[in-house]
Amino acid sequence: MLYRMKTSYDIRAGNAHHMYHPMIDPKVVQAYPPLIVDRADGVYIFDIDGNRYLDTVASLWNVNVGHNRREVIDAIKAQLDKLAYYSTFQNTSNPPAIELSMRLMDMFKPEKMSKAFFSSGGSDAIETALKLARQYWKLVGQPNRHQFISLKWGYHGVHFGGASINGNPMFRNAYEPLLPGCHLTETPYTYRNPWHESDPAKLSNLCLNELSDLIQKIGAGHIAALVAEPVQGAGGVIVPDASYWPGMRKILDDHGILLISDEIVTGFGRIGALCGARAWGVSPDIMAMAKGINSGYVPLGATLVNERIASAWEQPNVPAAMMHGYTYSGHALACAAANANLDIVTQENLPQNALHIGTYFQDCLKQLMKYSHVGEVRGKGLMAAVELVTDRVSKEMLLPPSAYIQTLVGTARREGAMIRVQGNRLILSPPLVFTHAHVDETLRILNIAFSAAENL
Ligand SMILES: Cc1ncc(COP(=O)(O)O)c(C=O)c1O
Repeated sequence: MLYRMKTSYDIRAGNAHHMYHPMIDPKVVQAYPPLIVDRADGVYIFDIDGNRYLDTVASLWNVNVGHNRREVIDAIKAQLDKLAYYSTFQNTSNPPAIELSMRLMDMFKPEKMSKAFFSSGGSDAIETALKLARQYWKLVGQPNRHQFISLKWGYHGVHFGGASINGNPMFRNAYEPLLPGCHLTETPYTYRNPWHESDPAKLSNLCLNELSDLIQKIGAGHIAALVAEPVQGAGGVIVPDASYWPGMRKILDDHGILLISDEIVTGFGRIGALCGARAWGVSPDIMAMAKGINSGYVPLGATLVNERIASAWEQPNVPAAMMHGYTYSGHALACAAANANLDIVTQENLPQNALHIGTYFQDCLKQLMKYSHVGEVRGKGLMAAVELVTDRVSKEMLLPPSAYIQTLVGTARREGAMIRVQGNRLILSPPLVFTHAHVDETLRILNIAFSAAENL
């Protein structure tokens, strides 16, 4: 029996009294106690009362191979019997971390990735990327290149670096002042942009022109890197036009600016390619990865750098210590879980499944346009957003607290699906092992939930 927890009531009371939850006002948690998840299997989770829910969000876009996979659990157990953890600082290492670094280089050979720096999650992976980018420029003799550009609506985790390049003030306001020298550029978001441009290719051009102007204004010699997600996730599943990433890479190359691809959601298959940048035909200099790297079985992040970046640390007679690292960098259990997880990703060809089932998923979700408060349905592969608006003409965001959203989420839950509304966006990001039948089940429940919300 858990400490002092004899009944489900005690568990709820314990949560209300003693635990903070990320991304929510604690008073709201007190008013609306959370669902307490007790176990999970495949694409389903179960609460402490035994109720079953379809996990349409793969927890937080990360349980890509599904819950309770024996292969991953057995790998963790086997590793636990040998070595749970030993630091990788300075001159010690462990076999699962070494195997994982080799495996990642094979997977991302087309992007010319060369080295991995491990950490404990996505925010760590971004922080590492920002710091390595700055150190790279110092090592190659251009120390003035220390500023960053990122995209409006972008989400890059919660550390001070990641928060400083966040493209949504909602995540920044409470913690300002943040890092100086971080600049935002417009994102190719057809549904909402300052030009009211709905043609994706034209909007892409406008955004690229704005990026060029911004670089001109700051001065390329002051910019270390641009950070972007191949499809913006938390910002509302914003899918750029196919011309945007190649156009952006060209502009950055013209000015010698590094590209950091935040692959924390898109890495390992979610949009139908092994990494999101590859889906757009672009090779970044640095990739930040987490989530799908081991489907959340043990916390893990990884920052990969390409040959160009790695070469800066290999210059003879240039002192280049990496004064950066985490106690749990290269954690043996996390890496063992990743190795088993990536075997599944490869053997079951999950990027291909994300493409195949994702096409069906996106087509089915379009049916939700029949509801009057749905402004747009968009997505790529197995990530999608339904944008909720007060009315389609004004496009005013339908934001919580709202009876509509409460009914939507509450009804879906009662009908057996876990869905997530962030701001005015219903986000769907199921495990990559989703099938046609799971998509049908999702749509059936969403139809019931939207009907209930519309008929309030
Ligand atoms: C694109 C992106 N970057 C970074 C992060 C931060 O990852 P973590 O929550 O593991 O720190 C997230 C988390 O959702 C993310 O979606």
